[in-house]
Amino acid sequence: AKEPVRVLVTGAAGQIGYALVPMIARGVLLGSDQPIILHMLDIEPAIESLNGVKMELVDAAFPLLMDVVATTDAMVACKGVNIAVMVGGFPRKEGMERKDVMSKNVSIYKAQASALEKQAALDCKVLVVANPANTNALILKEFAPSIPEKNITCLTRLDHNRALGQLSERLKIHVGQVKNVIIWGNHSSTQYPDVNHATITPTNSEEKPVRSIIADDNWLNTEFITTVQQRGAAIIKARKLSSALSAASAACDHIRDWVLGTPKGTWVSMGVYSDGSYGIQSGIIYSFPVTCDKGQWSIVQGLKIDNFSREKMEATAKELVEEKTLAYSCLN
Ligand code: NAI
Repeated sequence: AKEPVRVLVTGAAGQIGYALVPMIARGVLLGSDQPIILHMLDIEPAIESLNGVKMELVDAAFPLLMDVVATTDAMVACKGVNIAVMVGGFPRKEGMERKDVMSKNVSIYKAQASALEKQAALDCKVLVVANPANTNALILKEFAPSIPEKNITCLTRLDHNRALGQLSERLKIHVGQVKNVIIWGNHSSTQYPDVNHATITPTNSEEKPVRSIIADDNWLNTEFITTVQQRGAAIIKARKLSSALSAASAACDHIRDWVLGTPKGTWVSMGVYSDGSYGIQSGIIYSFPVTCDKGQWSIVQGLKIDNFSREKMEATAKELVEEKTLAYSCLN
């Protein structure tokens, strides 16, 4: 039998946490032959609720779940973890300034970076979900210098999956027949969902570029992009709560593909520390197309970028640089 893997979920008493922990315990994250020890962290006001989630995990009698740690102590929560899914954070409340929200999250991510730095397994893989996801991941990277920078990522897979979903709805084909969209940049409304390299595989036919199938450039260049960018807001309007099951599912997709590899010929979007690829400045966490093999991601190289895309890729990079400046001003 395989050794259990220790998986940390922060903010585990929250909405996404409630959808995510049963997926992890069922084997959605790392496969149905991988035993799991779940570490759940939340804050003092949520401890009762966190213990309730732990009770339900016991009641669900998951065959793969070997143990559950539920705590409000980050040092305990981070001990020996191999994978950390960082969902906990401070939400923007009505009337709050951007700077105040940033400041709260900077201090949370600075503290949790130190706990991971001291306690986590050496090769711990980190996924930041909590917003502002890219900048929280950047702060975490800065304050956990012994964790390799390639191990610190943020979630843009939900946006990626939303783009696949929109194309499949439009074409009335199954989502599994669409691939290789790209989310560039920030997990915010400036993100750029790019279909220029996306393909579909129609039933009984060869793979074809999406642009050769959807003749309506106008839809692809406007409504498609804004629908994906604004999908989070549309979910809030409909549910009166933000995306949770789709966010949890995307977090599992992100980690699973990272650890177990992407299928041949398929890439996914991940927020990673920029190495300057596609002229995007280093020093920010930016979403790129990546393939994964043997637990390592690499940015897909050599894609042709037209002027329309270039402008949008730069606009979202600019926003990330501004967020970085704001985050650093909160540190001082
Ligand atoms: P939620 O408010 O239901 O849950 C957040 C949980 O985090 C709460 O239980 C809270 O007590 C906990 N928390 C707060 N500070 C903490 C700390 N210092 N340490 C540990 N736990 C802490 O929120 P929800 O809906 O679960 O969303 C969580 C985050 O994910 C939000 O920041 C949201 O904006 C973000 N998000 C990101 C997405 C993405 O695609 N990257 C998609 C959807 C949401």
